[in-house]
Amino acid sequence: MHEEKVKQAQEKTAIGRHAFIRISEISEEDKAKFLPLLLLGDESEAMIKRYIHRGRLFALYEHNNTASDLRAVCVLTNEGDGLFEIKNLAVAPEHQRSGFGRRMVFFVVDLCRQAGAKTLFVGTGRDSQVVSFYEKCGFAKSHIVEGFFEANYDHPIIEDGICLKDMQYLRIDF
Ligand SMILES: CC(C)(COP(=O)(O)OP(=O)(O)OC[C@H]1O[C@@H](n2cnc3c(N)ncnc32)[C@H](O)[C@@H]1OP(=O)(O)O)[C@@H](O)C(=O)NCCC(=O)NCCS
Repeated sequence: MHEEKVKQAQEKTAIGRHAFIRISEISEEDKAKFLPLLLLGDESEAMIKRYIHRGRLFALYEHNNTASDLRAVCVLTNEGDGLFEIKNLAVAPEHQRSGFGRRMVFFVVDLCRQAGAKTLFVGTGRDSQVVSFYEKCGFAKSHIVEGFFEANYDHPIIEDGICLKDMQYLRIDF
């Protein structure tokens, strides 16, 4: 069921529009260079430091692998037992709503499928528009972790004028 939704969403992506896209895995020593964009996906540097080294960082470029061509970043972690998680996803503000976020998600979904994953999770602020973005990418709502933001961040996280409390998890089962 989820696979069919992902397939439909993938077919919606205009492949020709982004003919010069490349996605590179970033080496351990270069990860810190991507902090400015990672902070868009997760505004706590302390939180990013908790997962950046155990996760794989991918960068999506439109033409060449240069800083000005960087469009999106994503951190994927292997949580064991076939469970993977997108810990961070961010598209450069001036390039949002151009399909780059979806391209990155599909790349990660394919990677997980090839790795024999059982489930790919992503967590985001409850009721956020980001939930609808992930649903359009083929994710379905999973569980809620109540009080996640208060428990894990040292300052309030405000999204669309609302102070985030709970984490909404979404999932794709393979
Ligand atoms: C959320 C984010 C990753 C989406 O990436 P994007 O490249 O802008 O999204 P895409 O262009 O690939 O959009 C794919 C679909 O989702 C929809 N969508 C994207 N952002 C949306 C939003 N904020 N509200 C509603 N729908 C949205 C698009 O309209 C598109 O739908 P369509 O198929 O009907 O055309 C990006 O906006 C971003 O980096 N935001 C700031 C950081 C963030 O919130 N990261 C998520 C943390 S988990």
